[in-house]
This record gives sequence, structure tokens and C-alpha cells, in this order.
Amino acid sequence: MKTIKALKGMPDILPQDVKKWQHIEAMARRVFRDFGYEEIRTPILEEEALFTRSIGKGTEIVQKQMFSFKDRGERDVALRPEGTAPAVRAYLEHGLDAKMPVCKLFYIGPMFRSERPQAGRSRQFYQIGAELIGFNSPYVDVDMIALMMKLFEACSLGDAELNINSLGCGKDKIHFEKILKEAMAPDLKRLCEDCRKRYDRNILRIFDCKNEGCRALLRGAPKVAEHICSGCKSHFEKARAGLTSIGIKYRVEPFLVRGLDYYTGTVFEVTHKDLGSQDAVAAGGRYDGLIEELGGAPTPACGFALGLDRLILAAGDRIKASEERLEVFLALLGEEANALGIKLLRKLRDKGVLCETCFEAKSLKSQMRLADRLGAKKVMIIGGDEIAKDVAVIRNMDTKEQKEIKLEDAADTHLW
Ligand code: HAM
Repeated sequence: MKTIKALKGMPDILPQDVKKWQHIEAMARRVFRDFGYEEIRTPILEEEALFTRSIGKGTEIVQKQMFSFKDRGERDVALRPEGTAPAVRAYLEHGLDAKMPVCKLFYIGPMFRSERPQAGRSRQFYQIGAELIGFNSPYVDVDMIALMMKLFEACSLGDAELNINSLGCGKDKIHFEKILKEAMAPDLKRLCEDCRKRYDRNILRIFDCKNEGCRALLRGAPKVAEHICSGCKSHFEKARAGLTSIGIKYRVEPFLVRGLDYYTGTVFEVTHKDLGSQDAVAAGGRYDGLIEELGGAPTPACGFALGLDRLILAAGDRIKASEERLEVFLALLGEEANALGIKLLRKLRDKGVLCETCFEAKSLKSQMRLADRLGAKKVMIIGGDEIAKDVAVIRNMDTKEQKEIKLEDAADTHLW
């Protein structure tokens, strides 16, 4: 019979790698605690309209990458491609503004985008994200970026580069779209077919284009931050000064517009040189219009998400997940020893001692080999001879020393 394999772009994370993931998740939780964020867990499946309305109809994600389908009740649903829209939906649905004095949320979980899989890009990938809803100070942007960079520091990710830009407020964006349209009009025929569509529907999205020809044309395009209003200019200047004041290095990237429509004001992206073409390891920004767009009162907000898969890829061996060594392997020989062994395991596990055994009738030699492969510190040997003498043999696998202890004391680790 044909074996069933995982779907393309939906990788398994195997036990030998999960330790790294858990290590980063644990670090992230600690950093979020220090910054006063609380966890939110939203469903993986949502109404499709949540994403089309927030991320935007003209974006790559909505046009080409959503796992959308009709459920059994003929409702249009989608696997979440990102975590911001669900967090805002939950914020509105549960009135979190009234329940939390300051709404600071974080999440860790899988997201889904039907992209062409390659190194650092999968269809099921994991994000660690944060959202701060309700404040529009530039110092909130600075603190959000500081939190993101702290996560990289905690995960020993060296050489992470921070790029920032400002898209201006909603009005500025509309104004800039006009400027961009006028500027690109003479080159319209030289843009790719997708970009010609973007030109009409959602011109900012031409900055997402991967086509080399389009990218070359866009190098001479107007820069959004040069066309924003004085309020947004001053916000951006304060945010930049704030970053400098706490020693965070950044580069202003004039063509950074981000691939989701909800962004306004400060936007940012972190890249890493070891990641090849998929070099964005985290990204985020302000989204001051999204809460209103989803039916709430006008409310400013800011957030980011980092790609856990990419972070692990970029950090490589710098992530040192601590390996706990097996304390003892019980080498049990015969039925009577097995019966004793199961009781001993229970006692040891109750005390939190890492222990292991193999109940199959294997020779002492093969059990010792298994204990060695498992990296056990000690082996406790119990066979017919030991039971007759009412003892267990303790062998130290590092020093090779052996000693006998009474069977009734076998669970007293200090006697080993
Ligand atoms: P995003 O830039 O679409 O932003 O994704 C954030 C990060 O998720 C990326 O920088 C990347 O590391 C990772 N990522 C995205 N797609 C994939 C993929 N196919 N495979 C592996 N990793 C991937 C957002 O999702 C926004 N919600 C971020 C945000 C939060 N903005 C405000 N709050």
C-alpha cells in the first residue's frame, strides 16, 4: 500500500529539533513577561472576510496565498495567514479595551500561506507576535521594536538588521498613491502584467513585486516618507530619535511598504544575511486604521511578528537548548525483575528522576548498549542473581565503577 506523506510545505518538526523550538518559545515568554504582555490564543480557522478586509483584497496573501474554502455550512472560511487580524477581532468581540488596563497581547502559533515552498518559506509556518492596542505615541513604536530586538538578543541571533520607514496616516497613503501613479504612468507598459493590475487596484503593492524589471523601474520611484504630513513626519522623527537613544541601530529603507494593507505610519522589518532570498525574519508596524476597519472605534495600534522557522534557520547552532541527561537506565533481566522495575519507575518518576528501561527480554549486553546510546549517567542492574541476594547493582557509566545497594533502597538516589 502507498504510504501517506506530509503535504508539501507543511513540515514535521521532529523530536530532535523540537527542543530548539521549545527553548525559543520559553525565552520569548520570559521576554513578553518582562515587557508586560499577556498571551492570547485565537482559532486557526476564521471567517475569510476577516483577512480580506484587513490584509487587503489586492495583496499577494489574499490574492494567491490563502487556504480558503467553504465549510460544511457553506460559509467562506480561511486558515489564518497571520495573527494581527484575529487578535483585533478578539479584542473587539470581547471588549478587551475594558477588560485590560493596557491591551498588550502576544501569541505563538502556526500560520498558513500557500506559497511555493523553499528554504525559510513553508505553507505552515510559526509566528511569535505581539500587538499593543490603544496608544499612538512614537515611543510605543520604539518600545515595540525594542521588544522585538530583545527577542533576537535572547535567542543569540547576531547580525539581525533593522530597516524602518513611515507610510504616513490614512490620508497620506491616499495622497502618496496619487503621486506614485503619476510618477509610474510613463513606465506603465514596461511593468509586468501583475504590476499593471496593481497599478489600478492597489498601487502600493507594486513594491512587493519580485520581477527584476519592475524592481529596476521602482528604484527611481517617489519615496513615501518624503510625502507624509507634518504630524507623521514628527512622529517618525521622534521614533527614530527614541531608537537611537536606547542604542538600537537601524537603517531607513525608503521603499519598505510591507505586504499587508493595514499598515500606517512606522513600519519595520528585520533581515538576516544567512537567510538567502527569504531574509525577513520579523516585521511589523503601526496599523492605526484597522480597528475601525473591522468595526470598532478609531483606535491606534502597533505590533510585529517574527517567523520562528526562519529564526531557527538563521540562529543555527547558536541556539543551545539544554539537554537533560538521563539519570538512570534500569537493566531488568527476567519477569520478576520487570515486575520490580515497574514499581521502581513509578517511585523514581514521582520524585522527578529521569529514568528509562526496556521491558523486552534483551541480554544485559544489549541493554547496556541501549543505556549508553541514551546517555544514561547510571545503570541499575536487576536480574535473578541480584534478586536472590536482595540487591541492585548500580553502575556509573562515566567512571565505570559499580556498587551494590539493598533492593529496598533502590529508589534512594543519594545511595547510588
Ligand atoms: P509578515 O511580514 O507577513 O507580517 O510576516 C511576519 C514574519 O513571518 C516574516 O517576517 C517571516 O519571518 C514570517 N513568515 C511569513 N511568511 C512565511 C512563510 N511562508 N514561511 C516562513 N515564515 C514566514 C505579519 O504577518 C504581520 N501580522 C506582522 C504584524 C503583527 N504586524 C503588526 N502586528
